[in-house]
Amino acid sequence: MKLAILSRNRHSYSTSRLKAAAQARGHRVLVLDTLRFSIGLEHHDPDLFYGGKRLSHYDAVIPRIGASITFYGLAVLRQFEQMGVYCANESIALSRSRDKLRSMQILSRYDVGIPATAFVRQKSDVLPAIRRLGGAPVVIKVLEGTQGVGVILAETEKMAEAIIETLQSARQNVLLQKFIQESRGRDIRAIVVGDRVVAAMRRKAVGDEFRSNVHRGGTTEPVILDQEYERTAIRASQIMGLRIAGVDMLESDTGPQVMEINSSPGLEGIERATGIDVADAILEDIEQRVLFPDVDLHHRLRLTAGFGVSEFTVHNMPGLENKKLRDTHLAEENIHVMSITRHDAVIPNPRGDEEVHPGDTLLCYGQLSSLRALMPEKPKRRKKNGRKNITDPGIGK
Ligand SMILES: Nc1ncnc2c1ncn2[C@@H]1O[C@H](COP(=O)(O)OP(=O)(O)O)[C@@H](O)[C@H]1O
Ligand SMILES: [Mg+2]
Repeated sequence: MKLAILSRNRHSYSTSRLKAAAQARGHRVLVLDTLRFSIGLEHHDPDLFYGGKRLSHYDAVIPRIGASITFYGLAVLRQFEQMGVYCANESIALSRSRDKLRSMQILSRYDVGIPATAFVRQKSDVLPAIRRLGGAPVVIKVLEGTQGVGVILAETEKMAEAIIETLQSARQNVLLQKFIQESRGRDIRAIVVGDRVVAAMRRKAVGDEFRSNVHRGGTTEPVILDQEYERTAIRASQIMGLRIAGVDMLESDTGPQVMEINSSPGLEGIERATGIDVADAILEDIEQRVLFPDVDLHHRLRLTAGFGVSEFTVHNMPGLENKKLRDTHLAEENIHVMSITRHDAVIPNPRGDEEVHPGDTLLCYGQLSSLRALMPEKPKRRKKNGRKNITDPGIGK
């Protein structure tokens, strides 16, 4: 394979390790400076130039895009995608992970623990939000901070209000987060590659610092994750759409709480702490996946008028419940069930003899007119025990 590592610093630990791992596996690899690319767009022909010359063919790209050049780096990565080159992490997933609020919004829908988080704009909304999080102390974060910069612990409500006001007046968007006291100064960093955790460490802050980032002087130790932490790290990366991720989790009394998912995780800390060759695991994953560059399914499907994808949960649907797929009206109407989600497990590409259970979530592809008939009424939000819950969808068929 011919590989490119997009990196501004060819001598950094992570870049050199990835390069060495690629070479050790017999690949050609070049480190290319993300900012030296230019993008060319012409009818039917997305193109890339490097140092003024048209870029030759590459099989795969490993993005190592620093926070300070996210915008340009993402544009370059997208261009590789448009040209059909496999990217070790997709641009869309990378851009999701760069924004802490966006990450939490995506994760909050799924069965992955996160610290309760709030985002407000009006001054008058700050105090009620803090109270909903359980009161001070509370953590305040700028949305695109890294390495612990822009993460502040406010001990009192008054302090929190003052900090938020100051940051907002400096045009910074900030989120508020419940302070997980029992995990103070400690967190877990798990490196997920593909669908497994390849290495994990615990980071501990020094002195009375509450942030455990290595850049804030935090120390590291290897850990073997228990199942719940491992599952959470893998799920979080999958939900974000990342194949390579550093998942940061707080160790709360109620289990793992994902704080952040890094799409270009540093390799130095984790390899030194665990002695595991993470770079090699990344290269192995790329070898496995290189023939499958990302297909933006929704986009492709939109090009076929009248067809689409929809998902629904089976509930009071006698036409479906406890029947084999081939005996349901789905088959008759030529609706293809792409996957069934049952509890935590996903059954991909289910066969005709697979039985549909109440509570299953079906991901379907078919004619929109047929799918429409299946869709349940929109669930209503209703106050329950002082909290808003989504009630069970009442389903027509
Ligand atoms: N809600 C929280 N409760 C307790 N500690 C936290 C919380 N959020 C962050 N921290 C601590 O602060 C550190 C930095 O926060 P994080 O959101 O990962 O920002 P960064 O992107 O700057 O690393 C974490 O590694 C953790 O030690
Ligand atoms: Mg972090």
